[in-house]
Amino acid sequence: MTTHASPWLPRERFGNALALSAPGTGPEPPARLRELLERIPPEVVERFTGCGSPIPEAIEGRRVLDLGCGTGRDVFLCAALAGPTGFVMGLDRDREHLEVARRSVEAAMRAFGHPEPNVAFRWGNIENLEEAELEDEGFDVVISNRAVNLAPQLKVLREVYRVLRPGGEFYFADVYTNRRLPAEVAADQELVRDHLGGAAYVNDFLRLARKAGFVDPRVVGRYRLHLADLGLEARMGGVEFWAYTFRLFKVADLEDGEEDYGQAARYLGSIPGCAHRFVLDADHRFETGRAVPVGGNTARILGRSRFSRHFDLIGDFSRHYGPFRPRP
Ligand SMILES: C[S@@+](CC[C@H](N)C(=O)[O-])C[C@H]1O[C@@H](n2cnc3c(N)ncnc32)[C@H](O)[C@@H]1O
Repeated sequence: MTTHASPWLPRERFGNALALSAPGTGPEPPARLRELLERIPPEVVERFTGCGSPIPEAIEGRRVLDLGCGTGRDVFLCAALAGPTGFVMGLDRDREHLEVARRSVEAAMRAFGHPEPNVAFRWGNIENLEEAELEDEGFDVVISNRAVNLAPQLKVLREVYRVLRPGGEFYFADVYTNRRLPAEVAADQELVRDHLGGAAYVNDFLRLARKAGFVDPRVVGRYRLHLADLGLEARMGGVEFWAYTFRLFKVADLEDGEEDYGQAARYLGSIPGCAHRFVLDADHRFETGRAVPVGGNTARILGRSRFSRHFDLIGDFSRHYGPFRPRP
């Protein structure tokens, strides 16, 4: 676990309270990305305000979209990983953030050694990607870092589902609660602006994700955020705030729970930066070379997404053994 302060959230609300996060799911990027971060213009990195590091693995040559990209830290990290044959678009409705991002493109491309820019920053609303002229199935991966809660979530999820290719992934981080907010807190516009009033109860959010077509949403990691404002704490009625990182896959034929078909998956160690292990989600950490029993949904996710070439999948769906129970 990594310990860090949380200055990217309103200090008067959250203070510098310490938060704990699993490696790679906090705002500090995992070790595999730190060297790249040093090559991104400081103006971009200093203005980062996300709450996680949803930087996808295995995106070389892929098309990636960042919703609510701000000044573009995550766009530039993805651009380095996607390489000259990949493409990354950042979308935001704040023109000043976009201006910072755009004036940093040249320096970042030079630092990555890309002959031509493989990024674009576009003005647009994350709840209406059609208006931003983003077509159906145009992206392999959509990411977002603390922006989904700022717009009507079902609309955003439906739009993400539309622009993802089959097998695509929505990998993102945002702030959620462990119970529904009191109505007067949710209606307080000042708290909405502070990213507190808009925070969804995590189970309500998971229901919306399923409704939008992401049948088996996965939690990658989470860490607790502590309120520093004691008056506010008293108004919250015991609500806890957590920064979550999720993976939602647009994969056909997923079931509403894991079923056991006697399958196993062996990670080949071939994802750049993940030679020894690959973390799919909080329940699936694959060590290189070790065959691990998996449920039918996980087998389909691994077999039909960009991860397929990095796994040996053992077994098929011809025989059912009941509900899948992960081994301890
Ligand atoms: C907390 S900041 C995070 C920025 C960036 N992802 C980062 O990690 O630094 C939220 C961003 O979402 C953008 N945003 C909020 N609502 C939006 C919407 N409906 N459409 C587009 N952008 C939006 C804001 O302008 C802001 O740049």
